[in-house]
Amino acid sequence: MTTPFPHIFEPITLRHKTLKHRLSFGAHTANMAVDGLPGERHLGYYLERAIGGAAMIVVEPIPVHRTGVLTQGNFRNDDDSVIPHFRKITDACHEHGTVMIQQLYNVGQHGDWDNSFEPNWSPSGLPSMHDHDGSHAMTENEIGEVIEAFAQAACRAKEAGFDGCELMAAYNANIEQFWSPATNRRDDKYGGDFEGRMRFSVEMLSAMRDATGDDFIIGFCTSFDPEVPDVLPVEEMQAIAAYHDERELMDYVTIGTGSYYSFGQIIPSVFYEDKYGPPYSEAIKQVVKHAKVQAESHIRTPDNAEYVIASGQADMVSIVRGQIADPHWVNKAKQGRAEDIRPCLSCNQMCWGRRHKDYWISCLINPSAGREFEFGGDQFIPSENPRHVLVVGGGPAGCEVARVAAERGHKVTLAEASDRLGGQFRLAGLQPRRAQITDYIDWFQRQLEKLGADIQYNTYMDAEDVRNLGADVVILATGSLPSERGWQRGLPTRDRLPGIDGANVCSVQDVMSRSVRPGKRVLLLDDVGTWKGGGTAWYLAERQHDVTIVTADTVVGREIVRTAADFKLRETLKRLGATFMTESAVHEWHSDAATIVDLLDGSQQRLEFDNLVLATVNKSMNELEVELRGSGLDVHAIGDCVSPRQTPAATYEGRRLGLAI
Ligand SMILES: Cc1cc2nc3c(=O)[nH]c(=O)nc-3n(C[C@H](O)[C@H](O)[C@H](O)COP(=O)(O)O)c2cc1C
Ligand code: SF4
Repeated sequence: MTTPFPHIFEPITLRHKTLKHRLSFGAHTANMAVDGLPGERHLGYYLERAIGGAAMIVVEPIPVHRTGVLTQGNFRNDDDSVIPHFRKITDACHEHGTVMIQQLYNVGQHGDWDNSFEPNWSPSGLPSMHDHDGSHAMTENEIGEVIEAFAQAACRAKEAGFDGCELMAAYNANIEQFWSPATNRRDDKYGGDFEGRMRFSVEMLSAMRDATGDDFIIGFCTSFDPEVPDVLPVEEMQAIAAYHDERELMDYVTIGTGSYYSFGQIIPSVFYEDKYGPPYSEAIKQVVKHAKVQAESHIRTPDNAEYVIASGQADMVSIVRGQIADPHWVNKAKQGRAEDIRPCLSCNQMCWGRRHKDYWISCLINPSAGREFEFGGDQFIPSENPRHVLVVGGGPAGCEVARVAAERGHKVTLAEASDRLGGQFRLAGLQPRRAQITDYIDWFQRQLEKLGADIQYNTYMDAEDVRNLGADVVILATGSLPSERGWQRGLPTRDRLPGIDGANVCSVQDVMSRSVRPGKRVLLLDDVGTWKGGGTAWYLAERQHDVTIVTADTVVGREIVRTAADFKLRETLKRLGATFMTESAVHEWHSDAATIVDLLDGSQQRLEFDNLVLATVNKSMNELEVELRGSGLDVHAIGDCVSPRQTPAATYEGRRLGLAI
């Protein structure tokens, strides 16, 4: 079979292993271990990406030393009991020809005492960007202890069937802390001049090689932080890579973006361009002679990856979120089916968003991520009892259940009241830089059409229409509507905002659907802290409205914090002149002004506005469900019509029901 992406599908050799092509599933903390051991959740997760074609998988990092434990789902750091559990994963993935690597890490000063219960160890005792504590400057003996821990971890990985290890030297973790004069203030042999600052990583890589022998890949994960470049300028990174490469200490080097100092770039959100990392892999490729170079960070599409390899920016490409969102990304690209790849939204909502909360990771658009062992991966088993399924509502819940049901062989009718799919999620796709959401909805439409689902647009169904259609299964995904009460978390015992029935009040949905065009001065009441408020504020501020955001939260975009995009959003809003009123609430709306109350001291001020725009929790549209209750039909309800929530709940319930019917 010929592939439209010939460069990415050329094999490449790393030491004793030949990778079947250039695409890997790079390191990321899936945070799925239970009691420090990888189990069936991990196995299902990695196996699905091996089945989906990944040439190399870098299994999530092991913290190596007791001071480096960072999450509840981290693997046991220095314990042979992990070996048989990892062996199950490496054996299963090897069956599919995937080269298996394990990342080893120690974050040094940026540790988390709440998880390690140990002081953070670092070169020079500088503060943590993670837990706001200080750190302990390692003695030479302690440096030796950490190096030995890495060597032992590499041995354990080899015994567990891994083909190699990747040393995490990126994001200003411990190794980079030793490299950079900004964080290495030592005056012993591990500090001072360039050679001194390199000693820690050189000794570590040498110890890992001595411990594991020749037939073991050793990779080296680095990063560049374009927003805080003075920690390690590109030229310095080049010198570091060249220094280790001259000594042939690593078989490959991979280059990400960002650091603990500007976290948002590590997992680039919509604020960052496609192919964010490759300019830096290109810089490293210019200086290394032995090691293969891997690009990573926001390489989203097969076209992106092909360009990176074909143009010589890197030898290999890591796609992390792309393969979380679609574990079969690689095979689809190889088969020339790029349009079938379920396109990652760069939203970070359920991957980093759940890791941020110290839960195991999943995906907004692929709810099977992390649940492969219970949902059966991404290859749905045909139904033994194909039936006629009517889905009412074409938002994310309805589209997902319709797609899964159709893929499993059911005859699907999808009735959508409007003239297009997507529901309110489509409106989110109209916010600045969020068009990837529209691409996802277009993907649904393509998939449903390919699967032969009968999509009936402009079709509002009442209970009688549902009965008349005579489907075997009825799925209600009728969604939700903006609430008109103006209820606020800051004033929780008050059911309605005084003045809400007056003039010049609308919802963010009204604004984004352009059914209301607000005046110049907009008061945006953000009671949810999501993109619903923040993205609409951005949309308005970009169009020269004077936007004031009132929220009971301590920070604008509180729910976006989990995605690491919140700082960029606030920065953008500030640049566009928006005003933030945090820990505040709207006491009363006067049609042309608002009384705003400061929740900390109770003081009130009256400010003039042309419009009040509400970003509040929706109300369910469940009338049809109520009518059909007890009708004798096989009726199910999913998504917002059950309870208004964010989109991941809709796609999850759609997937779960689609697999169950
Ligand atoms: C949930 C999550 C956890 C991550 N954890 C790690 C990690 O432990 N080590 C690491 O080197 N990179 C980690 N990363 C960064 C990824 O390796 C990768 O550089 C980043 O996701 C950007 O690549 P992408 O655009 O292909 O997703 C993580 C990424 C995600 C989404
Ligand atoms: S949660 Fe969002 S960013 Fe993360 S993999 Fe899924 S679609 Fe991509």
